[in-house]
Amino acid sequence: MSARGRFITVEGIDGAGKSSHLDFLCDLVRARGFEVEKTLEPGGTPFGQAIRGVVLGHRTSALAEALAMFAARAAHVEDVIAPSLEAGRWVVCDRFTDSTYAYQGGGRQLPAETLRTLESLVHPGLAPDATFLFDIDPATARSRQQAQGRALDEFEKRELEYHVRVRNAYLALHRRDPARIQLIDASRGIEEVRAELASRFAQVLP
Ligand code: TYD
Repeated sequence: MSARGRFITVEGIDGAGKSSHLDFLCDLVRARGFEVEKTLEPGGTPFGQAIRGVVLGHRTSALAEALAMFAARAAHVEDVIAPSLEAGRWVVCDRFTDSTYAYQGGGRQLPAETLRTLESLVHPGLAPDATFLFDIDPATARSRQQAQGRALDEFEKRELEYHVRVRNAYLALHRRDPARIQLIDASRGIEEVRAELASRFAQVLP
């Protein structure tokens, strides 16, 4: 039987450019000779994709948002993440529970205690082996998104102060667990960010 795979998550505020680094991370895993499952939240399963459509298209209470994220996550962990890790595949996931602490906890000010309760119900004993947090000033991130001319979803449209709270919550998560949550300065060019990602990857996932 193969050894358990490793669980890697990628986090950051909207417009930090994290999604453009996911394939690069998957290549780093394959270069080590492991199979990789690339996935995302909210989403990752047909059930999760349906929830993604609902939450990204509607504004609702912070608690309803958190419950929806954790409902999608419950299916994602059970159907995709846990079986992949058990089969020896590495999982590279675009956002996970740190997003809920940052967005619903920091951004929408839901008590962390509520989120801890949900986390312990939905994935007791499962935490990422490493998390890459792409950090950028929200105003810079917003101008990047505008430059790309993308249509913004319900979360991205929220005011700058909300994104500042999300960023601060992420930075607080990093300070609490700097070994797991690797901070990457995402204001730099793509090649520079990749070089750092590759060296951190080698360091934290020996
Ligand atoms: P994402 O897929 O990263 O956005 P995009 O594809 O547009 O780059 O995330 C969608 C939004 O969902 C993003 O604004 C963050 C939000 N989100 C939460 O608020 N809580 C969560 O738990 C998760 C996973 C995402």
